[in-house]
Amino acid sequence: MTNRPSDKLLAWYDHNGRTLPWRMKKGSDCTSKPDPYRIWISEIMLQQTTVPVVTKYYEKFLDLWPTVEDLANAIHDEVMACWAGLGYYTRARNLIPCAKRIVMDHDGKFPSTSGELLDLPGIGTYTASAIQAIAFDLSVPVVDGNAERVYSRVTGLTTPLPRSKPEIKRIAEQMTPLGRSGDYAQAIMDLGSTVCKPKMPNCPHCPWNGFCQSHRLGLQNEIPYRQPKIPKPTRSGIMYVCLSENNHFMLERRPQSGLLGGTLGWPGFGWDKGSGGKFPELTGGLELPGEISHVFTHFKTSIAVRAGVVESSEFSSLDVAWVDQEGFDASKLPTLMRKVFTHAAQNFDFEKQEKSMKITRY
Ligand code: ADE
Repeated sequence: MTNRPSDKLLAWYDHNGRTLPWRMKKGSDCTSKPDPYRIWISEIMLQQTTVPVVTKYYEKFLDLWPTVEDLANAIHDEVMACWAGLGYYTRARNLIPCAKRIVMDHDGKFPSTSGELLDLPGIGTYTASAIQAIAFDLSVPVVDGNAERVYSRVTGLTTPLPRSKPEIKRIAEQMTPLGRSGDYAQAIMDLGSTVCKPKMPNCPHCPWNGFCQSHRLGLQNEIPYRQPKIPKPTRSGIMYVCLSENNHFMLERRPQSGLLGGTLGWPGFGWDKGSGGKFPELTGGLELPGEISHVFTHFKTSIAVRAGVVESSEFSSLDVAWVDQEGFDASKLPTLMRKVFTHAAQNFDFEKQEKSMKITRY
């Protein structure tokens, strides 16, 4: 082994790398290659989501759609249902269009150049680089949040994030080896998750402690510096959980673009700053105690929930999704909508109170 940092890290990874469902098994013969389709799905799921959460979804998703052809022929609502709870639904909405493009324009084979990858729906710089490195073993720097922290610390970078991103990219380019680039990329991620953790990094067990500048200066708990975050505003609003006289819940399909785009949700007002559907305002019902809090990327919400019954004929002209109460599965809704439903189910008895608590159009 040489003294190159990448060799040290790869040797560490061979013994300490995590066994994860999208990775080649340790000791697999060198001739078998990772499946770009599986790598793509894992990388899309892992954006903004933790490894333990993704692991559960990933296996189910791959069981349902084991190949890119299967996904290209999948039903949109079934993909969205499988994604429910993972958040950032734009990622899920782009999956079928991307799979279709791979089947139609690339004969079902993932392309390997960054130009072709970036041209596909939902594939940005990070995902393209991860696919290139992990699936095709191309020497491309892969920089996620873990890598940003590791590179900042090892070089003792004092520029705060996110201003330091271009500098980190240059460091990653210099440090990424020519061979085993996929393993190297994943080794950085594992080092960041298990050793060079955000808080209390375990420097004595780090393969890079011999030349880590932050460690040398005792700054491993300070670096990476961050520009102060702007606090998220809170938007308050109201949501209605309505049951019809023939026992169907009244949901609206949200517009394809924008917040929770294309998903089903409870009609409501105020909290999504007009990005919701064109549902008329509602009035009435029982105001349930307490509020539901939920945090999105750019704002927090605080939602008051009202529950009651509606006359379905009053809403017949609207694009309402009526979902049978029997067999209603809240786990297929995005997390916020699921929280609202759980709150309603705990605080409102749809059987007993249904007659008195009417909800109507404003
Ligand atoms: N985060 C993003 N991609 C990952 C991967 N391939 N392994 C572990 N964590 C990741």
